Amino acid sequence: MQHAGTLRIHELTPEERAVYATLKPESLPEHVAIIMDGNGRWAGRRSLKRFLGHQQGAKSVQLVTETASRIGLPWLTLYAFSLENNLRRPKAEVNFLMRLLKSYLEGNVQRMMDNNVRIRYIGRIHELPSEVQDKMQWAAETTAANTGTTLTLALNYGGRSEMVDAFRALAAEMRQKHIPSSHITEEDIHRHLYTAHMPDPDLLIRTSGEMRISNYLLWQIAYAEIFVTDRLWPDFRGIHLLEAIADFQRRERRFGGLGDNVLHTDEEADRYKIAVS
Ligand code: FPP
Repeated sequence: MQHAGTLRIHELTPEERAVYATLKPESLPEHVAIIMDGNGRWAGRRSLKRFLGHQQGAKSVQLVTETASRIGLPWLTLYAFSLENNLRRPKAEVNFLMRLLKSYLEGNVQRMMDNNVRIRYIGRIHELPSEVQDKMQWAAETTAANTGTTLTLALNYGGRSEMVDAFRALAAEMRQKHIPSSHITEEDIHRHLYTAHMPDPDLLIRTSGEMRISNYLLWQIAYAEIFVTDRLWPDFRGIHLLEAIADFQRRERRFGGLGDNVLHTDEEADRYKIAVS
């Protein structure tokens, strides 16, 4: 795999290093995507306001990103704010999340620089408040030359709306270049997704136990391994990322192909009677 920046294994905690020692460094995932869920429950279990769960969740974002950068993970993509969150949550919570994002960026860009992390965004970010967009742009420009982990925040993001945006752009291109629809390939669609510049996620992690995809990276996760943990996002740390990667490495990825138990020749296959009744 391609390593992002320099490995900084010595900066892992002793507990993280113990898990890292069990990993095969040559087959680390290139891209890990995370559905960060459970901030509200984390707060509720402590009789705290939901806001405090989000605040604690922002801390997890930074700590997990730093562990990712230490092990040289090239791409980390976090579902920070969905289109549905934007439309369906009370205005006060949406406003709080926007303020939290701004202060997260203000407070953590220096740490991103120290960790060689580059920040980017996917989603309909032009619909976010302009002062939030300004801060986002500032953070992206400040960290643009970093060569370590690319932290991508999915903001005002929905997988279906991403496809709508991609198909609109592709249709415009085809019209302009007079390309017939029968010529469309998967590669053409990929080129117009927000994620055109990155590989598809190898591993999708969801916290807080729900077995759902929630409209996240629908096209891109076609062959991703899925890891669901009951741990709530505000309790998720770098060591849990490493544990998820260890679990990922124990799986056999086939991409629609076959594992070891394979019939190699037609003659071999002919020896088995087909009994379907
Ligand atoms: C789900 O918790 C989480 C979100 C709404 C998005 C994630 C947001 C953060 C981690 C905080 C801010 C992030 C950044 C980058 C500053 P939930 O409220 O749905 O939890 P619940 O299902 O327990 O109610």
